[in-house]
Amino acid sequence: MMDVKLIFTGFLIFIIKVQGQFDPIAFTLGQDSNVDIQNGANDTKIPFTVVITNHRQANLNSGVFTCTEEGMYKFQVYSLTWSNTNLFLELYVNSKLVASLQGHTPGDYAAAGNAVILPLKSGDAVKVMSRSQYASNIFGTPDQIYTTFTGVQLGSLELGAEFSTTLSAFSVSLTQQQDVPGGKPVLYNNVLVDVNGAYNVTTGVYTVPSSGLYIFHFFSLALRNKDVWQELYHNNQYVCSIYERTDQDSAGAGNTVLLHLKRKDQISIRAHQNHSLYGATNQIYSTFTGAQLVTDADMRSGQEPVIAFSVGLSHHATVADHYKVIFDRVFIDLQHAYDQKTGEFIVPVSGLYEFSYHALGKRNGTIWLELFHNYRYVNSLYSHTPGHFATGGNAAVLELDAGDVIYVNARGNVDLFGVFNRIYCTFTGYLLNAVDNIEIIGKK
Ligand SMILES: *[C@@H]1O[C@H](CO)[C@@H](O)[C@H](O)[C@H]1NC(C)=O
Ligand SMILES: *[C@@H]1O[C@H](CO)[C@@H](O)[C@H](O)[C@H]1NC(C)=O
Ligand SMILES: *[C@@H]1O[C@H](CO)[C@@H](O)[C@H](O)[C@H]1NC(C)=O
Ligand SMILES: *[C@@H]1O[C@H](CO)[C@@H](O)[C@H](O)[C@H]1NC(C)=O
Repeated sequence: MMDVKLIFTGFLIFIIKVQGQFDPIAFTLGQDSNVDIQNGANDTKIPFTVVITNHRQANLNSGVFTCTEEGMYKFQVYSLTWSNTNLFLELYVNSKLVASLQGHTPGDYAAAGNAVILPLKSGDAVKVMSRSQYASNIFGTPDQIYTTFTGVQLGSLELGAEFSTTLSAFSVSLTQQQDVPGGKPVLYNNVLVDVNGAYNVTTGVYTVPSSGLYIFHFFSLALRNKDVWQELYHNNQYVCSIYERTDQDSAGAGNTVLLHLKRKDQISIRAHQNHSLYGATNQIYSTFTGAQLVTDADMRSGQEPVIAFSVGLSHHATVADHYKVIFDRVFIDLQHAYDQKTGEFIVPVSGLYEFSYHALGKRNGTIWLELFHNYRYVNSLYSHTPGHFATGGNAAVLELDAGDVIYVNARGNVDLFGVFNRIYCTFTGYLLNAVDNIEIIGKK
């Protein structure tokens, strides 16, 4: 198929235009220098000094994403503090706070992240700010990018638009403190968006409205000196976890997974044991977000390539400096593009992809991982919590050519935590859109 496409380029472009494949706006910004925000400072924007990807010329002036095309958008934000300092970041749409990040670990650097889906109108501005009046000290250098801001358009909401989305998407959060009994779902009280009314605020359960591929992100923050320990369940089957605890402060953690689900399947985030989550209307750390990427009907039609993988680590692994993390638990790998021997995702079709990766270290261990595109460094996660288990994550949108390899590399010797029913370390990626063929021909 690819050979035919490449040979008959002119013809193919014509066909694509006729078919009108949806080409999403998508970007990843990074911060490659320190940002020091003083105590008492008013809202300060994170400048985002590096454009890692900007697909379809997203309007990203001064690190603020301004929507130029109405639609449903998914955002991920990750960051890292300096040692012993604090991180208080907030994601805003216009003047409305939608998600918060907090990090602080006595004695070391602390990571934080969050993700939401938002319906945006043209002119809406989405930005990452430091929390008003709070000091934030963000760590970054040119070859160590921990602080990132990623956005992808999931579909158009324009009335009568060719691609008005019928795909499911939801994003819910906790704007109040909650004690969650062990084994029970977190009851997110605040609904940011729920396209099909598929998330039930009474039960905390998302019921899949139509079969297809779904991506989920979940993040949480515990009360001071408490564990955050949650698990994503698919019906009554365990999928993956988040965990963290730190001394003298609140601990946060997050994860991402992509699953093939059937209509009426149920997804929930359950507490592993009794625990207490922090939340307030002006501090929104705990979120649960999901989006249908493609329907089964679309997958069967075969009109567009569907590529997705999501893998986890189900055993403890020590990964030596500059070696790749090899994930063994396959949640999904549609085109067998993830090589379980080498840890590489080998790009089957040129296009625009989104990746997320998360990790948990062994007790008192340091985790330091980097995402690579061939030999090109993309971004990192780092964390160490003295005496405890440390966690972190990151994400990126990348424009890739068929045959490119994407992988997660260790820096220093990294002891990753994993057990068959305790999966914290994950690596997920999927094709947003096969890239238009002009660019591929231009590059070859
Ligand atoms: C923060 O804003 C307040 C009210 O707008 C102002 O009085 C104060 O000077 C500002 N502080 C700083 C550090 O800019
Ligand atoms: C967990 O919380 C429930 C009440 O929600 C309580 O009955 C139970 O004793 C608690 N379990 C533990 C181990 O603390
Ligand atoms: C949510 O779940 C409860 C309990 O199963 C049910 O009674 C209620 O009707 C559901 N709400 C919606 C909106 O479906
Ligand atoms: C954690 O590891 C460091 C060395 O990396 C060691 O000095 C320290 O004692 C350890 N702390 C605990 C609580 O195990």
